[in-house]
Amino acid sequence: MKVLVADDLSPQGLEILRQAEGIEVEVKTGLRPEELKEIIGRYEALIVRSSTKVTAEIIERAERLKVIGRAGTGVDNIDVEAATKKGIVVMNTPGGNAMAAAEHTLALLLAIARNIPQAAASMKERKWEKKRFVGVEVQDKTLGVIGLGNIGRIVATKAQGLGMRVIAYDPYISRELALQKGIEMVDLEELFRRSDIVTVHVPKTKETEGMIDREAISRMKDGVMIINCARGGIVDEEALAEACRQGKVRAAAVDVFTEEPPPADHPLLDLDNVVCTPHLGASTSEAQLNVARAIAQQVVEFLTTGTVRNAVNVPSVDAETLATIGPYLKLAKQMGAFFGQTSPFPVRKLVIEYQGEVTRYNVAPITAAVLSGLLRSYLEEGINEVNAPFVARDRGIEYSESKVSEAADFTSLITLRTEGDRGRHLVAGTLFGKKEPRLVTINEYAVEAVPEGTILLIDTEDRPGVIGNIGMTLGAKGINIGNMQFGRDRVGGKSLCILHLDSVPTLEVLRELEALRHVLTVRLVQL
Ligand code: NAD
Ligand code: MLT
Repeated sequence: MKVLVADDLSPQGLEILRQAEGIEVEVKTGLRPEELKEIIGRYEALIVRSSTKVTAEIIERAERLKVIGRAGTGVDNIDVEAATKKGIVVMNTPGGNAMAAAEHTLALLLAIARNIPQAAASMKERKWEKKRFVGVEVQDKTLGVIGLGNIGRIVATKAQGLGMRVIAYDPYISRELALQKGIEMVDLEELFRRSDIVTVHVPKTKETEGMIDREAISRMKDGVMIINCARGGIVDEEALAEACRQGKVRAAAVDVFTEEPPPADHPLLDLDNVVCTPHLGASTSEAQLNVARAIAQQVVEFLTTGTVRNAVNVPSVDAETLATIGPYLKLAKQMGAFFGQTSPFPVRKLVIEYQGEVTRYNVAPITAAVLSGLLRSYLEEGINEVNAPFVARDRGIEYSESKVSEAADFTSLITLRTEGDRGRHLVAGTLFGKKEPRLVTINEYAVEAVPEGTILLIDTEDRPGVIGNIGMTLGAKGINIGNMQFGRDRVGGKSLCILHLDSVPTLEVLRELEALRHVLTVRLVQL
């Protein structure tokens, strides 16, 4: 399997990749988009930092790509939606550079409070301007942290150590968690109103882009200081420059830009009260080592064992969990395929019921496996557990999960059911001996069938001689029956015959079977 490393990665990360069995590594940094597009089809994995833009056009050409690894946090340089649609896992290394980015934020905070870069530059010009560079103390000032994730939390704790009051806005973090750390959660309005210094630590999303714009700045204190060490564009750069020029903002520090590097005439670069750094947040040897090692290990684990860690577009499953839920994943995929091929009408609404022991696990990957099996019975290629939930929604298939923790007849049971204008369809399955997939219910019939190979499902009337006729018809065509199961609703009622065949019958044979006396329907399933 080939891995392309398209941005600089610490040698220790490269070494992990090189040492892995069955993995061949190629390092090609500084590729132009057309060059990457040209070669991407050869690789199973791509590792990038922030320089390489993994666009939809590049992903389109990535025929063999299974995983994109981002050595760092922000995945805004990767078209995650395009990757998901194509079934490619996108993983990052959350937290690996959080300390570095938090320390850089604090360095910038003190730098702008005390005019350190400007004073240092003045000294280099052999000047002694004590009066020009009078600063402010941060002790007892209020720091407003927007985004209380890995970086925001470290910034908050360390700022408390400097004697600052910390307030924060993050609608996805509980007040209790913040309170434990002595951080007061407030709404955005209040944060703008009360903060002496505002620092952003959110990902760049549709919601956060332009979050600090002209309007937002106008609601802040006069003389506020603003820091953006997250992503370019979260703070509107034009609006910030204008406010810095007018003195509404006393000073600002910017590590990240909408366009990197920013154009020479960028409005923030010439302002005396703005300190800019060239996206240095994660640039410490420790952080680069952390993220390089982490992404190399994650990519190797994924390619060699299927373990998914720190994925941003698919539920993560570690090796231990994978070993436990692996048999369920197999069962779920086979059941999804069986269900799709036997449903008498297109599945539009699917209910997936989990009962018993299986409910102890995160069932999201099992649901994805059901969907991938189901969709594979309708669609040609390219469906896997990564894109199946996306493709299902895209095709208007609604699905829902329900869980019942008490076990009934089986230690664990997975039931798939759907309803359409032409009736209902239900299939239930379990694991025998914790490993062996079995179908145990097909609609009204209790069965015990292995969901594997070529299967014929034949609905018949429960009459003498029906089974004999079926066997003779198949025998006459040289088709051997490997296994046979039989279920009926009542004596003389209806019955279901499940045949595992050693070869695939032709359409002509299926028609012949359908024409037999007392045979109602014949369905061929290939798993
Ligand atoms: P994280 O995912 O751990 O935390 C992000 C936090 O933002 C989460 O708690 C989330 O709930 C919150 N959030 C999301 N949307 C929000 C919204 N609309 N309003 C308020 N809060 C919201 O990420 P992190 O590792 O802390 O990284 C934070 C930012 O820093 C990211 O943009 C990342 O790309 C950037 N980063 C920059 C550098 C650098 O070199 N300058 C280095 C590392 C990370
Ligand atoms: C990140 O998102 O991890 C940082 O911006 C650092 C980087 O781009 O490498």
